[in-house]
Amino acid sequence: MNDHGSMRQTERLAADAAGLARAADILRDGGLVAFPTETVYGLGADATDAEAVAGIYAAKERPSFNPLISHLDSFESARSQGWFDETATRLAEAFWPGPLTLVVPVAPSCTVSDLARAGLDSVGLRVPAHPLAHALLERTGRPVAAPSANRSGRVSPTDADHVLGDLDGRIDAVLDGGAAQVGVESTIVSCLGGTPRLLRPGGVPREAIEALIGMKLEEGGEAGSGPLAPGMLASHYAPRAQVRLNATSIQPGEAALLFGPGAPQGVEAAQATLNLSKNGDLVEAAAHLFSYLRQLDASDATTIAVGPIPETGLGEAINDRLRRAAADR
Ligand code: TXA
Ligand code: MG
Repeated sequence: MNDHGSMRQTERLAADAAGLARAADILRDGGLVAFPTETVYGLGADATDAEAVAGIYAAKERPSFNPLISHLDSFESARSQGWFDETATRLAEAFWPGPLTLVVPVAPSCTVSDLARAGLDSVGLRVPAHPLAHALLERTGRPVAAPSANRSGRVSPTDADHVLGDLDGRIDAVLDGGAAQVGVESTIVSCLGGTPRLLRPGGVPREAIEALIGMKLEEGGEAGSGPLAPGMLASHYAPRAQVRLNATSIQPGEAALLFGPGAPQGVEAAQATLNLSKNGDLVEAAAHLFSYLRQLDASDATTIAVGPIPETGLGEAINDRLRRAAADR
């Protein structure tokens, strides 16, 4: 698919060596491949490539960015992406490979892109048990970001026909591995210090986790607040600076976050300036969003002035994130 969601030919790949090799090649080239896991089919992209990850949002027509789960072939690979404390280590050793996702602090060697982490300093990691998923991840040799392979608002797909029903013509390939077994997504537990927290119930029962670690899991995204919708995670990245939207001119000392070819009035006097996409490509803009916000925040400007961004395609998700950043004060 090109940046605005137009059609491409979707290949249906067989569950054999040739299909796996092709799927891994597409992923390494920045393409989108749906693949089976033991829970549901995931829509995979190279997690280290922010433009590839932006393509997931474009294909799904998802109107907001939330942190995605990065899939790995082994605990050893996961360890170079995230920092596992004693509890996280026990959970990984007991339930991986399997339908458990662990949210842990990023490791210094983490290569998962800012966009896949929605700008957070933590990362969601999972080692799936499905043999095809495992083989694909091993061959790809990189973390693979993969939400469920459905269009936004539709049910999670459990076979290749399901995936094609939603995404045919919008993704590069689907690796056809028959029916997924569990049908519900992975259980998500965050291990960020203190008592581990259940962020989403799923394939591994809570009781099994609590029995292993010998304590009750905390509930939801924030202590005592109950479960939150994904886009509402209290831990969402928010810049320190104020954010001013739809800025058509820049005040002296502000940092400027621009989109498109134009130069707003006063931009010469900005503290720092970055352009999400000079030629107005929303996929490129989405790929840069979180890292540019961070860079401008680090410029020490008290305000980040953001130029107008269209509300079409990925612009909706970009604007959603920016509105949250602007409202967080
Ligand atoms: O079963 C599954 O988990 C499927 C298959 C394809 O593996 N994948 C899936 O991925 O459901 P995804 O990307 O849709 O899950 C996203 C959820 C977020 O809504 C959030 O709850 C959690 O994972 N998550 C990921 N990274 C996080 C982070 N750094 N902090 C907090 N939550 C995170
Ligand atoms: Mg889903």
